[in-house]
Amino acid sequence: MDFADVLRRRRAVRNYLEEPIPRETLERIVARGRRVPSGGFSQGLRLIVVTDAATRGRIAELSDEHEYVAMGFDPWISRAPAHIVIGTREDDYHDRYRQPDKLQEDGTEIHWPVPYWHVDAGAAMMLLMLAAVDEGLAAGVFGVLDWGPIWELLGIPDDVLPVAVVTVGKPAPESRERGSKGRGWRPIDEIVRWERW
Ligand SMILES: Cc1cc2nc3c(=O)[nH]c(=O)nc-3n(C[C@H](O)[C@H](O)[C@H](O)COP(=O)(O)O)c2cc1C
Repeated sequence: MDFADVLRRRRAVRNYLEEPIPRETLERIVARGRRVPSGGFSQGLRLIVVTDAATRGRIAELSDEHEYVAMGFDPWISRAPAHIVIGTREDDYHDRYRQPDKLQEDGTEIHWPVPYWHVDAGAAMMLLMLAAVDEGLAAGVFGVLDWGPIWELLGIPDDVLPVAVVTVGKPAPESRERGSKGRGWRPIDEIVRWERW
């Protein structure tokens, strides 16, 4: 699909057909997610693909899906035939930035003012969503206030921090209009300055 079409089609989809997605399709999507750039090529990204219905149902419960339903949304999290849990391993960045070619002149590790392991996880989130659209599918994303129970459910190691979950599936009509509809984009001049602020 043309990149402009992929971008145009991409939106946060909050309802899916319960039709399973072939494993090869999901493999292509996560392989494209792996291509994300990362600070120092640290590659702190870790992905967990969940297709098992019972586990997806549990993730939905632990993500308070009932609150979406109470607001008039569909039970989109449990319905999505695939969840891709995005995790990031901060230690990969420290390991990388302690290597000789990355040390500062005084031999110490650089401390970036921005946690690039989170930045890179966000970039991966976008790649995964675009890759899903490129496969003719739809994607959504959600965050969770308390990751503890999902961390445990999926056996995620202590040094991998879950960041967000991308839902993937064939889109279904949505009971409630998405929040962004009608709000419009901030004017381009508010977002973009040229040469200086
Ligand atoms: C970091 C991040 C976290 C998000 N978390 C949620 C979420 O918890 N639940 C949800 O329904 N949508 C979530 N969204 C989707 C946004 O609400 C959505 O992207 C935004 O409203 C713009 O709509 P669009 O993606 O359709 O353009 C999240 C998006 C991002 C980028």
